[in-house]
Amino acid sequence: MGEKSRSGGCCGWFLVLVILAVIAAAIVIVVKKKSGNSDHVAPVPGPPGAVVQKYGDALKVAMQFFDVQKSGKLVDNKISWRGDSGLKDGTEAKLDLTKGMYDAGDHMKFGFPMAFTATVLSWTILEYGDQMDTVGQLEAAKDSLMWITDYLINAHPSENVLYIQVGDPEEDHKCWERPEAMTEKRPLTQINTSSPGTEVAAETAAAMASASLVFKTSDPKYSSNLLKHAKQLFTFADKYRESYSVSIPEVQTYYNSTGYGDELLWAASWLFHATGDRTYLDYVTGQNGEDFANWGSPTWFSWDNKLAGTQVLLSRLSFFGAKGTSDTSGLNSYRKTAVAVICGLLPDSPTATKSRTDSGLVWVSQWNALQHPVASAFLAALYRDYMLTTRTPKITCDGKSYTPADIHKFVKSQADYVLGDNPMKMSYLVGYGDKYPQYVHHRGASIPVDAKTGCSDGFKWLKSTHPNPNVATGALVGGPFLNESYVDSRNNSMQAEPSTYNSAVIVGLLSSLVTTSSAVQSFS
Ligand SMILES: *[C@@H]1O[C@H](CO)[C@@H](O)[C@H](O)[C@H]1NC(C)=O
Ligand SMILES: *[C@@H]1O[C@H](CO)[C@@H](O)[C@H](O)[C@H]1NC(C)=O
Ligand SMILES: *[C@@H]1O[C@H](CO)[C@@H](O)[C@H](O)[C@H]1NC(C)=O
Ligand SMILES: *[C@@H]1O[C@H](CO)[C@@H](O)[C@H](O)[C@H]1NC(C)=O
Repeated sequence: MGEKSRSGGCCGWFLVLVILAVIAAAIVIVVKKKSGNSDHVAPVPGPPGAVVQKYGDALKVAMQFFDVQKSGKLVDNKISWRGDSGLKDGTEAKLDLTKGMYDAGDHMKFGFPMAFTATVLSWTILEYGDQMDTVGQLEAAKDSLMWITDYLINAHPSENVLYIQVGDPEEDHKCWERPEAMTEKRPLTQINTSSPGTEVAAETAAAMASASLVFKTSDPKYSSNLLKHAKQLFTFADKYRESYSVSIPEVQTYYNSTGYGDELLWAASWLFHATGDRTYLDYVTGQNGEDFANWGSPTWFSWDNKLAGTQVLLSRLSFFGAKGTSDTSGLNSYRKTAVAVICGLLPDSPTATKSRTDSGLVWVSQWNALQHPVASAFLAALYRDYMLTTRTPKITCDGKSYTPADIHKFVKSQADYVLGDNPMKMSYLVGYGDKYPQYVHHRGASIPVDAKTGCSDGFKWLKSTHPNPNVATGALVGGPFLNESYVDSRNNSMQAEPSTYNSAVIVGLLSSLVTTSSAVQSFS
């Protein structure tokens, strides 16, 4: 082309410059939009990388259990054997408590673990929403989250009253029926100023604060309503300090709480992320931190104990900078403890936990064994991705260094175990792989859709020696014994019962693994 094209004259060059400027401006706008308009160092995710089919497939399966567990008038129901149920829940108090999710294999709606489910699901969407989107699961996740937060909003009719339970476990457990066929009474339980429940109010505040971030741009009105409820509930929780297990001793049989300090810190941490209000940060770094954070001691993340989650969530601020403040020194103790948690999980670390099966699954309790390894691996995935996103090369465990790749190896090992890489050669995620539990302890899954049985004659389906007629797709069952055996029997609730909070952590873990290079997003 030679001379002619090079001497394009003034305007040709000018045009090129203008086009370049427009492209640059567009990039700046896109980057700004992605990272919000915060003034701190925001994570700038690179391209998410290729989808890893195995984890993408597993995530699609796992997500479906939220649909299996939905109470109320179903919208756009995708589970062929499910229908409307619980349509009168709440009428006793003139409230609509029809939505929300059944807890596990039964039909109780327990507010404490349900709120935890919502908090973890929100956290997953906030960190890994882009990755969930690459396999078409983001909208479904937001929809399931809203199914719970709609319920939580209605369960909080005035500042200092929160309904924390629908159904009476004694009555509920006298029956074995499909949720669609329930006839027993479903009484309500509330906390209030004379019978407070700090942990359940604070966990509900955490759920609503984190969900307010999820819906911030897609539904600003809903988001600010959630935030209003979250702030009120946190104040209620903090001002009227008492464990719900003390105020309402009946709750001890199912979701006994071992203390509320962890939920107060967890809720304040979420409220800080949602509001940027320094008061909440001071709350966790000040005296309450001293009282409740148990710095230096790793704990297991679960529906009862949120300390490890709080440590990882707050370490996020020290990685990326705290909104509205450059001083994050008060957060160091949290980050150090988060590192101690991760060090405990890495199998060859000097501080590795001995709570493990021979083939490497973290194993802490006989009941619902999988909750701990999956929740731990989710936290490890987050920490690893904070490191990657900020190019932090290593953590040190008692003098030995570990890279993000080392952490990833652990994360993957727990997920792979769950999905079938285990001595039973069995997937503990129902509906995934060729071999998975056939006798899940789940009423709805165990009873044929056209059965005419009701409350008490329905127990024949519990006793039946046939596999479940309906597949509880996405159920993460309790899982193996320490010796890695699993008894696939419907009445074996210790091992064969799934729960919605198990689903929340497996969805979190799988979302972190869906693409080859994972990175967290900015959200506060
Ligand atoms: C407060 O909650 C307790 C425990 O659920 C309940 O027994 C009591 O009736 C409630 N108080 C009011 C005024 O409703
Ligand atoms: C519930 O937890 C408290 C505090 O840890 C404990 O004292 C109590 O014995 C537990 N109750 C039951 C029924 O396990
Ligand atoms: C199931 O197990 C429970 C507790 O071990 C026992 O009380 C019950 O009778 C069993 N039910 C059936 C149908 O086997
Ligand atoms: C594995 O452990 C369970 C629970 O402790 C026990 O009942 C079972 O017999 C053990 N199985 C084997 C093969 O040792």
